This record gives sequence, structure tokens and C-alpha cells, in this order.
Amino acid sequence: MRKVIHSLKVLENKSAGGDNFTLLLEAPEPLPTITPGQFCEVKVDNDPTVYLRRPFSIHNVDYKSNTITLLIKVLGKGTAKLSGIKEGDALNVVYPLGKGFTISDEPKVLLVGGGCGVAPLLYMARVLNEKGIRPTILVGGRTTVDVPRVEAYKEVGETHVATEDGSLGEKGLVTQHSVFKSHLADFKRIYTCGPEGMMKAVAKAAEALEIPCEVSLENTMACGIGVCLCCVTETKEGHKCVCTEGPVFDSTQLNGWNIDKASTCSKPYLKNE
Ligand code: FES
Repeated sequence: MRKVIHSLKVLENKSAGGDNFTLLLEAPEPLPTITPGQFCEVKVDNDPTVYLRRPFSIHNVDYKSNTITLLIKVLGKGTAKLSGIKEGDALNVVYPLGKGFTISDEPKVLLVGGGCGVAPLLYMARVLNEKGIRPTILVGGRTTVDVPRVEAYKEVGETHVATEDGSLGEKGLVTQHSVFKSHLADFKRIYTCGPEGMMKAVAKAAEALEIPCEVSLENTMACGIGVCLCCVTETKEGHKCVCTEGPVFDSTQLNGWNIDKASTCSKPYLKNE
């Protein structure tokens, strides 16, 4: 799959509530083909203390306008710097990186996202829509501002929300939502992205019902191209780089993610500061 390094023009920097914001970025030439779940590495300029590029899922792609959108949460210096970027500025971006989700023809699809980790699921839902599939989408967070862009998700799927404090949607974790608890067996494919604990719970529930489940890992990343080895995860086939062999994996292929061993894996998720 073709990777490019582009200087992307910032068309818009918009708040998505709380510490979340979206960047609408225009490419200088036709976009490469991007699969939902793939990510990009963004160079943070004008801060000598931020050396490494920052990895972000690709939130949306519009081939007609030649733009991509990133949904970012401010977590540290790099993301804080990016939050202040202005319309007309340029961002140096390497993309698309990694392997994305498998696009299924199954009509009954569930997307489960947590917090800002929900980002790649919007583009995933749009691609499913193009195939005539309207997925069910379940998103959650601690409180309302931790569940960004709910209205955008409602446009592309039957969207349900859970918040731990009950300020939006049902009260509790996404895995405690009535759709998850009572209707999971209705689905033929599950895709999930977000905090590792949430994804493991989703993966275990899917495995118990023998529903194929793909998870998008958020391990710490630096180079994004398989060189630094800081993103390695354990799979049934040995160690694999999340940045090149993932970030999307079949949950049954990951060590420590199955029903018997779910508590043994201690890989951190993305520390995207
Ligand atoms: S981020 Fe460097 S090898 Fe994966």
C-alpha cells in the first residue's frame, strides 16, 4: 500500500468538546488509498522539546475534497501544540500507515469505541455505508465530553452511548449498555477501538459467542514504520510490530486476549502525548 509524506494544509481546527478537537487537512495531490483503521504520523513543529512524530488514527477521509480529518485529544505537549494550529498552517504527515480493519459484507456489524479511541470508527462506518451497511455503533466514556462527535456517528449508524456518570446515554460502561448485554449475539462482526480494558472485555464477549472481532491496538509508537520496535505485541505467531502488522488484529490472535488469559497481558495502550 502506497505511503506518502505530505505537507497537508490545515483547512479547519475545530473543538469537539472537552479536550478533543478535529483537524481538517487538505492534501497537495490525490490522496493515497486509505483503509479504515490505518493511521498517520504527524510532525509537531516549533517545539524543540517534542522530537517524535505523533500517531493518530484517521478519523475521516474525503477523496472528493482530497481531505482527511483527525480527531485528537490533548494529552501532553505534542497534542497541546497541535491544538493551537491555525487555518492555513501546514502539517507534515506520513500516511497511511499500518493495516486497517477487514471490510466485511456482513450486514449486522457492531462498532464499539471508547473515548477519543472512537476516532477510526467514523471512517469505518462511512466505508460500510458505501457498501449498503448501516452499522450499530456503541460509544462510551467517563462523561459527556469524553464521547466526542456523537452527532457525526448518528449520521452513519444506529448510535448508542454509555457514560460512567450517566450524563449522556445509559449509565455505565459500554459493555454494560443494554445493546451490548442483550443483543450482542445479533451481530456477525465486531470492531473495537479504545482503552485496552474495554477492548479486552469486548473481545472476550465476542469470543464467547464466536463472533469475529477485530481490535485496534494503541501501543506506544515512535517511528511508525517498524524500525524502533517500541510497539511490539505478543501474538499467537510471535512478536509483531503494531505499527506495521497492526494496529488492527483479530482478537483471537493476540496473546492474553482470549477468555482464559485475559488478565495476563499488560501492554500499555497509546501514550500519545
Ligand atoms: S513504532 Fe517503531 S517499530 Fe512500531
